[in-house]
Amino acid sequence: MDQILISFFIFCSFTSYLNAQQGYSGNSILACNKNDETGPSPDFLYTCNGEEPSCKAFLIFKSQPPYNSVPTISNLTSSDPSELASINNVSRLMVFPTNKEVIVPVNCSCSGQYYQANTSYVIQTRNETYFTIANNTYQGLATCDSLKHQDPYDPLSLLPGLTLRVPLRCACPTSNQSAKGTKYLLTYLVSWQDSIPNISERFNVRRESMLDANSFSEEDPVLFPFTTVLIPLMTKPSSSQTIIHYPRVTSPPYTYNPGTRRSKKGFYVGIGIAAVCSLVICTVLSIVFLRYKKRTEEFPQSYGEEKKKQVLPECVLIDIASADQVMKVFDFEELKAATDNFSPKSRIKGSVHHGVFSGEILAIKKMSADVSKEVNILNKINHINLIRLYGACEDHGHFFLVYEFMENGSLKDWLRKKSCPEIEIEIWTQRVQIALDVANGLHYLHNFTDPSYVHKDIKSSNILLNGNLRAKIANFSLARSAEGVDRYASTKQFLGTRGYMAPEYLESGSITPKIDVYAFGVVMLELLTGKDAIIVQDGGELLLSAAIVSIMEGGNTEAELSYFIDPSLQGKYGMELALCITKLSVACLTREPESRPKMGEVVSTLSRILMDLQKSDSLSVELG
Ligand SMILES: *[C@@H]1O[C@H](CO)[C@@H](O)[C@H](O)[C@H]1NC(C)=O
Ligand SMILES: *[C@@H]1O[C@H](CO)[C@@H](O)[C@H](O)[C@H]1NC(C)=O
Ligand SMILES: *[C@@H]1O[C@H](CO)[C@@H](O)[C@H](O)[C@H]1NC(C)=O
Ligand SMILES: *[C@@H]1O[C@H](CO)[C@@H](O)[C@H](O)[C@H]1NC(C)=O
Ligand SMILES: *[C@@H]1O[C@H](CO)[C@@H](O)[C@H](O)[C@H]1NC(C)=O
Ligand SMILES: *[C@@H]1O[C@H](CO)[C@@H](O)[C@H](O)[C@H]1NC(C)=O
Ligand SMILES: *[C@@H]1O[C@H](CO)[C@@H](O)[C@H](O)[C@H]1NC(C)=O
Ligand SMILES: *[C@@H]1O[C@H](CO)[C@@H](O)[C@H](O)[C@H]1NC(C)=O
Repeated sequence: MDQILISFFIFCSFTSYLNAQQGYSGNSILACNKNDETGPSPDFLYTCNGEEPSCKAFLIFKSQPPYNSVPTISNLTSSDPSELASINNVSRLMVFPTNKEVIVPVNCSCSGQYYQANTSYVIQTRNETYFTIANNTYQGLATCDSLKHQDPYDPLSLLPGLTLRVPLRCACPTSNQSAKGTKYLLTYLVSWQDSIPNISERFNVRRESMLDANSFSEEDPVLFPFTTVLIPLMTKPSSSQTIIHYPRVTSPPYTYNPGTRRSKKGFYVGIGIAAVCSLVICTVLSIVFLRYKKRTEEFPQSYGEEKKKQVLPECVLIDIASADQVMKVFDFEELKAATDNFSPKSRIKGSVHHGVFSGEILAIKKMSADVSKEVNILNKINHINLIRLYGACEDHGHFFLVYEFMENGSLKDWLRKKSCPEIEIEIWTQRVQIALDVANGLHYLHNFTDPSYVHKDIKSSNILLNGNLRAKIANFSLARSAEGVDRYASTKQFLGTRGYMAPEYLESGSITPKIDVYAFGVVMLELLTGKDAIIVQDGGELLLSAAIVSIMEGGNTEAELSYFIDPSLQGKYGMELALCITKLSVACLTREPESRPKMGEVVSTLSRILMDLQKSDSLSVELG
């Protein structure tokens, strides 16, 4: 009875949502610790605002091995296999080609404030997290947050064999939609290259009703891959509307004549970038700041409850041993053989070597200190932008950690070498992509547990680049959960790197994700200027961050900034984009931690900039 009253109350207090259509979650769906206490949020699931409390709904799932057949997809989504087969016009044992869109019929019903189609999932491997289950396995049809909400398990103790309850994103038509003839809502998974005009044409719906259904205000809004939009349908979807999505083509080789191409390119890119700056940065940043001004302290100074203590070093090996498949315990002899007895030729830098393990090159780092923290964290997190730990080895009290090998070394060294492509937009794309990769990694790290994990030592030498220049965050030896104040603070022995440490950390040792945001601001400035975080000038030292902040506060911004920016980024349209990135960096460097943006907001801003760069690029390729 009480529960009914409570949910009735909740329902009533959000009557404004009753008439509104659903909102679009955008990139914020990637966050893992949005609770829904502030009211229904599209980041969580779609709100119960329909005419009916339950209805038939449809989802689009992209066939991905092992979920690429009628039996496996219907099992994954708890959908009726014969219905799934018939709506896709295939036999009950059909295996779909990879990346084929598959229509999944589900029963959608209101539970509390949200619509959901219930299914369950049995965890298969040690490396799965709420995030990978929501984003990778369910492709964004589930959210990390709603999984955490419905399942009682600690994010750090998900083990193979556990059964999770998985709410899938679905919704029922609102009365306005029904009045206009909408019978079903299809939850559509956004892919690279999708746009509202494309989708509405393919499913034969009016563009306005698509925009309406997702509360978009722009005509052709930016859509993010691995998020969902709702398609209002008058009839059941048909297999003739589904397509195979081919993987995105990454940076096409530039084989044409750059001379004639460049001028045109500059023109279109100029337009694109000007649009990005005025629309995205100014609106996004001003929204961010207005919101932050209103907000009070975001991170509690201390978390009252007892904390799980870090596992002691003796437990590390046990932990590694039980983490089958994911982490391997290497034999010291194996490491010696792989590195030719740690020969100088195999040395990458300092105590890091590379070695060949059955054909695969891996990096080996010798650690003198306690490796338990790093092992424990890397064992649990799994993200494309965080370095992957393959295993570890112990020999006479020395520990060796074995990681994936990153061909292009650290960002710091790479920026020094400056092996840039010739075309300016390529350089920009490269740099923005690196920033976005790091931002994505931090965003995940900050959100996959509660309280957040903080890296604490973000700097260009802890960011590694692989062969495709995709960035991953490495060196988690200082990482820890945000628990208020660093115990080293009283002794003033700070653990971190000069030039990157946030003022509040230096003053009081306070540890929140915002100290990573601060350090990330410095890394973005390094990407922009190609300079070190500490510049040695005329025998004195100057902090890069301080220099740029004072330039932005001064009156002669553009001229002074152009003196700092990497010359290879200073084309015709470089300054406009440079100002954007600088503003974003300076926002991250704000003195008051609560005024700094969250990584999620940084990710959104950088994704939009990158998408616009890529759009301008392909546009000019077509026209050029
Ligand atoms: C729903 O319809 C009513 C009446 O036509 C209208 O006032 C309201 O604005 C509509 N709501 C939305 C979200 O379109
Ligand atoms: C999927 O298959 C497994 C094994 O056959 C079974 O245990 C599980 O209950 C099935 N899940 C659903 C949702 O049907
Ligand atoms: C969905 O609901 C219908 C009607 O209530 C029911 O017959 C069907 O078995 C349900 N399907 C699933 C997969 O639960
Ligand atoms: C279903 O498939 C058959 C043969 O593969 C084809 O002739 C028919 O047009 C398809 N129906 C729809 C609705 O796509
Ligand atoms: C779906 O799961 C939720 C939470 O486990 C539950 O409250 C709800 O009743 C379920 N819905 C259906 C239709 O089984
Ligand atoms: C998890 O590990 C398995 C092998 O144990 C691997 O096949 C799979 O790709 C990994 N998943 C992710 C998301 O990395
Ligand atoms: C989300 O999953 C997709 C595959 O479905 C993967 O390509 C992408 O990298 C994942 N996103 C993140 C942030 O890991
Ligand atoms: C959507 O349209 C754009 C051009 O407007 C095209 O480049 C893209 O390939 C289309 N995407 C799909 C999935 O058809």
